[in-house]
Amino acid sequence: MADAEITQARPEPASAPTADELAAAGLRLEVDGAVATVTLDRPERRNAMTFTTWRTLARVGATLPEQIRVVVLRGEGPSFSAGIDLGMFSGGGEGFSDGADAEATDAFIADLQRGYTWLRDPRFVTVAAVQGHVIGGGFQLALACDIRIAADDARFCMKEPALGLVPDLTGTKPLVEIVGVNRALELCLTARTVGAEEAARLGIAETVVPREGLDAAVGELVAALLAVNPGAAVATKRLLWEASENTLEQQCAAERREQIGRLREMFGGQKQS
Ligand code: CAA
Repeated sequence: MADAEITQARPEPASAPTADELAAAGLRLEVDGAVATVTLDRPERRNAMTFTTWRTLARVGATLPEQIRVVVLRGEGPSFSAGIDLGMFSGGGEGFSDGADAEATDAFIADLQRGYTWLRDPRFVTVAAVQGHVIGGGFQLALACDIRIAADDARFCMKEPALGLVPDLTGTKPLVEIVGVNRALELCLTARTVGAEEAARLGIAETVVPREGLDAAVGELVAALLAVNPGAAVATKRLLWEASENTLEQQCAAERREQIGRLREMFGGQKQS
């Protein structure tokens, strides 16, 4: 392939969304030292999300400043998110695909999924702080984070199959990993609502706190996460997320590799040739 073709095939580097672009996507972004807080900010629509929301989230993830070590994802108002903006289905949608062109639709959905996958980046720990309704694409957004902290009024629902669709915003893998395939099936195919207590029991939420204590609990968690050595945090996140894919042998090797990196950084060991 000629150099020019290779250059053309490379995706454009993302540009950080402006305040106006964030607002148009129903988002807010605050950066405070090593912490970025992304707020779903359409409370009058229960933080329903559009394709623009997800594309803008991907741009946020790709352009966070280097110093960010923790990302908090939260929702303004009574609910974390009512999922996809149902207007997307009724002509008000921004170019909703009818699936006729499978290749184009595949690329379309892959683009939206980037709004979720960046939350696994080992450079930072991602925390979903959820309250009220956590539905569909909103539930999947919480599942994309490393840690979920829920208010006691949180109500989770995987609504997609009830609407004739499948959950396609990266949520099926973490859901199955957390609750097992049988429970995941039951939750998805009944679209029943899971309250905070059950969510904690199933491992969908790591912690449940009273609604009025959510912000304070998130603050404490963030402080604890920031107290850990930054390099150790990155290496440990990478290691833990690899674990379910690896055999024991591969994971042991991954532990050794990461530890060698830590030892070199801490004690200045030089690479032996
Ligand atoms: N899309 C667009 N608008 C929404 C919305 C959504 N998903 N959810 C709520 N709203 C709007 C309501 O229409 C209402 O607008 P008006 O004030 O103009 O009437 C406003 O937000 C407040 O909503 P409610 O009065 O219903 O608020 P509530 O707190 O009593 O109930 C709710 C909240 C249970 C979330 C309810 O609004 C609801 O069931 N919403 C729809 C949820 C849904 O089905 N989401 C899609 C899930 S599937 C998915 O996300 C992924 C996918 O790809 C398909």
